Amino acid sequence: MKYLVTGGAGFIGSALCLALMAQPGTHLTVVDMLTYAANPASLAPLAGKPGYRFVQADIGDGAAMRALMLDVGPDAVFHLAAETHVDRSIDSAGAFIQTNLVGTFQMLEAARAYWSGLSPQAAAKFRFVHISTDEVFGSLGAEGSFSESTAYDPSSPYSASKAGADHLARAWHRTYGLPVIVSNCSNNYGPRQFPEKLIPLTLLNALGGAPINVYGKGDNVRDWLFVDDHAQALMTLARAAPPGETYMIGGRAERTNLDVVKTICALLDARFPAQAPHDRLIRFVSDRPGHDFRYSVDCSKIERDFGWTQAVTFEAGMAKTVDWYLANEDWWKPLRSRVYDGGRLGLASTGAAS
Ligand SMILES: NC(=O)c1ccc[n+]([C@@H]2O[C@H](COP(=O)([O-])OP(=O)(O)OC[C@H]3O[C@@H](n4cnc5c(N)ncnc54)[C@H](O)[C@@H]3O)[C@@H](O)[C@H]2O)c1
Repeated sequence: MKYLVTGGAGFIGSALCLALMAQPGTHLTVVDMLTYAANPASLAPLAGKPGYRFVQADIGDGAAMRALMLDVGPDAVFHLAAETHVDRSIDSAGAFIQTNLVGTFQMLEAARAYWSGLSPQAAAKFRFVHISTDEVFGSLGAEGSFSESTAYDPSSPYSASKAGADHLARAWHRTYGLPVIVSNCSNNYGPRQFPEKLIPLTLLNALGGAPINVYGKGDNVRDWLFVDDHAQALMTLARAAPPGETYMIGGRAERTNLDVVKTICALLDARFPAQAPHDRLIRFVSDRPGHDFRYSVDCSKIERDFGWTQAVTFEAGMAKTVDWYLANEDWWKPLRSRVYDGGRLGLASTGAAS
């Protein structure tokens, strides 16, 4: 099978690429602009492997994407490239609009031009898997879960840009017949996540003896999925899902942010007893503007239709994640010293419109 993965040098994209290349006979092209959030080291295990190619390009470059699509001739496209950090979207939304909306439009148009030139058999097999988030649905109260029929109600510039991209993807199916599948997944965690997101940020701050910021009271709830389980779900959808369908993907592991932080502290206490207790570093700071209270995902459709399920429990996945960061300082140390030092983002203080 031939695949094109956008955003493959990011967190979920790299996990997906490693999983795809573990299948015999895979031809994989990654297109990634290598923004601050990318780490080429995540894809280093694939360098030089037969069938693997990396292309540095902007998905917003329509001509480049059309040429790439024709050159690769994919059976399936996994579209993950995006600006992804909510706090950065609050500080400066422009790149989110450009990549998540305009970039998705360019990918859909490139895919449509390529797909419309395929033989009927190849066109019927082709899939464009659009990867999105449960954040497009906004905030839940204490009860209930998001499902495939939940109405969109995004709160942040990030989730609004992803919501718009989802609408474009569905419109390209309904209007042009492009075989699009949309997935909305809950929060991912695991190896190779850029250390601006809650879990690696907490872990690396705690490891360095720096304050661990917890927004508000830490009672916001997220559903957590180990990243390799997400990769398997996406591969399942590309293989088996009918065009035009949407699937929720989740971990069935709801935790408050404070629970997550305390889990990391406990794992570090066990590994570095001399520095325990790490939860003495916790500081409650002002909340994120527009902070959604709770996300919960009902992923029974993908479980029922295809037998996909979470292979890694939250407890096992968190231990794996902590141990991966401890064993892979070479991966994250340059990011902490050169790209992002762990300081607070997303206070909406500048009012800048860039
Ligand atoms: N992380 C999560 O918890 C989560 C949950 C559900 C859905 N998602 C979605 O999954 C996808 C991947 O998320 P992630 O956490 O791996 O993101 P990430 O920030 O780790 O990686 C994004 C990648 O996209 C690349 N990129 C950004 N702009 C680009 C452009 N214009 N052209 C080409 N490449 C570009 C970056 O260089 C980076 O490698 C996103 O679409 C995100 O919305 C993420």
